Amino acid sequence: MPTVTIDEKPYRADVGETILEVAQRNGIWIPTLCHHQALEPYAACRICVVEIDRGGWWQVVTSCNYPIRRALTVRVNSERAIRARRGVMELLLARCPESPQLRRLANRMGVEGTPYPHIAAAQENCILCNLCVRVCSERIGASAISMVGRGGDRTVATPFRMSSEDCIGCGACAAVCPVGTIDLIFHEDEVEISPFETRVTLRRCAECGRPVGSELVNEVLASRGGPTLVEMLAGDAYCLRCKRKKLAERLTAAVPGNGSGRAAQERSLPGGTNVQTGLHAGNPRSIRVGEAG
Ligand code: SF4
Ligand code: FES
Repeated sequence: MPTVTIDEKPYRADVGETILEVAQRNGIWIPTLCHHQALEPYAACRICVVEIDRGGWWQVVTSCNYPIRRALTVRVNSERAIRARRGVMELLLARCPESPQLRRLANRMGVEGTPYPHIAAAQENCILCNLCVRVCSERIGASAISMVGRGGDRTVATPFRMSSEDCIGCGACAAVCPVGTIDLIFHEDEVEISPFETRVTLRRCAECGRPVGSELVNEVLASRGGPTLVEMLAGDAYCLRCKRKKLAERLTAAVPGNGSGRAAQERSLPGGTNVQTGLHAGNPRSIRVGEAG
């Protein structure tokens, strides 16, 4: 187990772990943007740079993809590392000056603005981190979007910049985008993935009408042999909030005395369902349910 010394403190690391993983595990903050636990490191944004000791000189490397092989000395909060990260942030702010997420991160890094002019409109509000493209192809298997164009025109787009037939409307791209560029806009019967102008049919909660997902997600899950969206929602077309509410109603009706003491907190319901209420007995939000083995 190699030792990684970060800002003069030693930490144990596994071979193959990245500097970022060791730092995060030990509560040392390094800003990240293009890094996501669901995907392999990609090192596109360079906001996570740190210095490593090369035996007499210090090299600036991206911490999110730098693997630990042997003992390593790292500077996260040296003047040079901080300056390098702030320089990257100033460049990124020129791309996404309006992004609240990026501005929050910039504030935390002590960057108040950017001396650079705003980037061309084609790239506005996108730091080209590639997270949306990668999650769509590598995790969802849809490949509905890709990087297109070169230089100043490089951007994320659907094929021919038209509504994508491959999009299943899962919203993974919007979920991973670190600067909030991608939005899900809910229409009456459709969900629109903006700015890609792609629309897919929407499934709404049978109880309250809230959106619960796209019909295509349901079909894709079924075609892959896994549980469908409807099955995941316990056989009901309810949103999670309504499902929880209905479950609470069932439990309240099933547990005599409405469960205030310890004895009432752990009971078995007919059908083998093992019910354990949480710390706040009687509060439906704290109820956890597990099927008895
Ligand atoms: S749209 Fe968001 S996730 Fe996609 S490349 Fe741009 S910044 Fe990254
Ligand atoms: S988070 Fe490391 S390069 Fe983007």
